[in-house]
Amino acid sequence: MNLFDVYPVNPIHIVRAKGSTLWDADGNEYLDLYGGHAVISIGHTHPHYVQKITEQLNNIGFYSNSIEIPLQKQLAQQLGEMSGKEDYALFLCNSGAEANENALKLASFHTGRKKVIAFSKSFHGRTSLAVAATDNPSISAPVNKTDNVVFLPFNDEEALSQAFASYGEEVAAVIIEGIQGVGGIREASIPFLQLIRSLCDQYGAVFIADSVQCGYGRTGNFYSHDYAGVQADIYSMAKGMGNGFPIGGIAIAPKFKASYGLLGTTFGGNHLACAAAVAVLDVMKSEKLLENAKTVGNYLLEELKKFDKIQEVRGRGLMIGIELPAELASVKKDLLFKNRIFTGEAKPNVIRILPALNITKEIADRFLDALDERLKA
Ligand SMILES: Cc1ncc(COP(=O)(O)O)c(C=O)c1O
Repeated sequence: MNLFDVYPVNPIHIVRAKGSTLWDADGNEYLDLYGGHAVISIGHTHPHYVQKITEQLNNIGFYSNSIEIPLQKQLAQQLGEMSGKEDYALFLCNSGAEANENALKLASFHTGRKKVIAFSKSFHGRTSLAVAATDNPSISAPVNKTDNVVFLPFNDEEALSQAFASYGEEVAAVIIEGIQGVGGIREASIPFLQLIRSLCDQYGAVFIADSVQCGYGRTGNFYSHDYAGVQADIYSMAKGMGNGFPIGGIAIAPKFKASYGLLGTTFGGNHLACAAAVAVLDVMKSEKLLENAKTVGNYLLEELKKFDKIQEVRGRGLMIGIELPAELASVKKDLLFKNRIFTGEAKPNVIRILPALNITKEIADRFLDALDERLKA
């Protein structure tokens, strides 16, 4: 059987990893500034993480949600503390798309309404509602298309106010990334996030903060939306949550009423996934990774702004976009194949930096030196 060929693959076979270093089958060393797409939060094969998952696997890897799994409660408690949302409730699932799917569904159950407001260049995942709220018609199948989702221009306060004025009573949810990832590292402005909060309050709609890529400490705040000083009703999360172990979740404000059958999952919240997520939070706390994300992130942002060939540097903490002119389109590829540095990209010409939250200034400097070399080439 062949693999279903739906994404391009680099001819690199990574066999081992530690921290932000990767090695291929020939022993070549690579630097990971991509974190496997914002997933590696505490570094590859962190000893505490390996130990906790190994111990858990030797005890029990999986049983269904029909029994008590105290690790779920431990995870909810640590997450509540770390994110400063102690009074929120946690529902666990397996991926970012699933987290958004559940968030949108819950908003619709809660309000009894159907309309969802999403924004230009948004990406919320590939399941049915998540992809319907994603601004990319090419990945939406005919069956996913729905009139229930309305796209408005990102950061356009006027358009948002007008939309609520004309059909606000029908809106179940507004979903927004604090910093758009796939859309090219674009920050939602503080007044825009504040306006979403006040319009959702006024019209009884649900504010969903998609924190799948920009969350989990990556920007130096636990959820990137926190910089606007407003509370969302639901935060969706995944990626960095399990440092590579598949896990997602939604943090749900106290006003939502839970009832049996409202949401459900076979794998969500399983023993192994919870052990991985608890280990991640342990390390994030003990190694002060949010502070490190801010410090090293600020350093990178400042240094990147000194390159005159870069058109624009955007982002916060360790979620950084480097916009290059069209003639430098090969830089990302050259960083990988000539300097052995993994970075991410956003079309058409943005390099995305999404490393582990414990990268050091020394690693940041290695990246900056390599970029300097590429931009001079
Ligand atoms: C902002 C955002 N939301 C949702 C998703 C979907 O997550 P997943 O691929 O885990 O389903 C992604 C993935 O890139 C994302 O960046």
